[in-house]
Amino acid sequence: MNKITSLTFTALLLLASPVTLLAAQPVGNSIDVEGVMRVAARKLAAFDLSQQNKTNFPTDAKGAQWRTVGAPDWVSGFYPGSLWYLYEYARDQKWPDAQAWRARAETWTAGLESQQFNSSHHDTGFVMFDSYGNGYRLTGNPAYLPILNRTAQSLASRYRADTGTIRSWGKIDDTNKFIVIIDNMMNLELLVWASAHGGTTSGGTSAELRKVATSHADRALELFFRPDGGTYHVVELNPRTGAVLRKRTAQGKADESIWSRGQTWAIYGYAYMYEATGERRYLEASLKAADRYLALLPADFVPPADFDSDLKGLEFKDSSAAAIAASAFLRLHRLVEAPALKKKYLDAATATLRSLTSAPYFSKGDDKASLLVYAARNYHTDPNHALTNTSLIWGDYYLLEALLQYRAITTPPAKNK
Ligand code: GLY
Repeated sequence: MNKITSLTFTALLLLASPVTLLAAQPVGNSIDVEGVMRVAARKLAAFDLSQQNKTNFPTDAKGAQWRTVGAPDWVSGFYPGSLWYLYEYARDQKWPDAQAWRARAETWTAGLESQQFNSSHHDTGFVMFDSYGNGYRLTGNPAYLPILNRTAQSLASRYRADTGTIRSWGKIDDTNKFIVIIDNMMNLELLVWASAHGGTTSGGTSAELRKVATSHADRALELFFRPDGGTYHVVELNPRTGAVLRKRTAQGKADESIWSRGQTWAIYGYAYMYEATGERRYLEASLKAADRYLALLPADFVPPADFDSDLKGLEFKDSSAAAIAASAFLRLHRLVEAPALKKKYLDAATATLRSLTSAPYFSKGDDKASLLVYAARNYHTDPNHALTNTSLIWGDYYLLEALLQYRAITTPPAKNK
């Protein structure tokens, strides 16, 4: 008997890379979207009921209670955004309580109104586009439009022509250091969208607003990508000349390692920029980052917090990165043209969602506040798991977003009689 035939099928599965596994798996309409949405409805409603003050936004949870933060925190839009996704699903499925989901989403979104004027960080894209942006998409509420456009203006005020980028972290007028992070790619969506909806830079034009986004995306292509498609997390620039001072990590294991969530921000951010602009260099960047990510994934499609980590246990995984990746892969599935590539990214998304919607990553019970468990805020070795083995609100948000896209792709629209 030769060596290969003596291996059991299970052993083959263990040896296989995720890419080989994809080829071997039958991929069908096998994700229980309705079941997940029912659990999400229960958990999202429970949090709303538990809060008198609808401006304490969930951030992370180790058990049955979310820890909360205020409106300026980067995560504040994810809970209102999740409520909008529930409304979207409930409305489409004709749940009798669909309007109650809209009312909850409106209430929690209103708690973020002040953030349109916040120019102290780059994350207002996450905060406001996930809340007001989804609200505007789903309801067309005219009151939301000027709020989104004003937010875009605040965000664009962090852009400097000297560096060609938005300043992600730090004081807007710091003359010593100018910090850009890969996560910033996610905040460009608001700018491009606003530029097409009457938004402008302060005292400027819509075209300038769009230019801020494309300039940032172009400079980030030079700054963050390694030749193999892996990405840096943080780049420090000279604020006057734009010269690179240092490339490093903040949440990954090491400066030259791949922080898995940063890699998924790159896949998602560049896929969006291609969709918004049609510029193929952005699609190529997204595919390059996606292929590096897929090559490094373990067999269950849920990455460790850092791909160079030697901490292999579940408690060092980041399910939130997997949820971001699933949503990005479904976007890539829509955007690429070649049938083989379409299949590749739909299969990658399906395999990821299959893992995320089952044990051990999915929590049905009320002992956990969240849907997803085993997430990592940072790569961390602390044996008490202060920053790992947790739940993160954005993991649930991107899971719901991915499931809505998955439903749209795999469920043919009902025929009109
Ligand atoms: N954008 C912050 C994070 O991904 O942790």
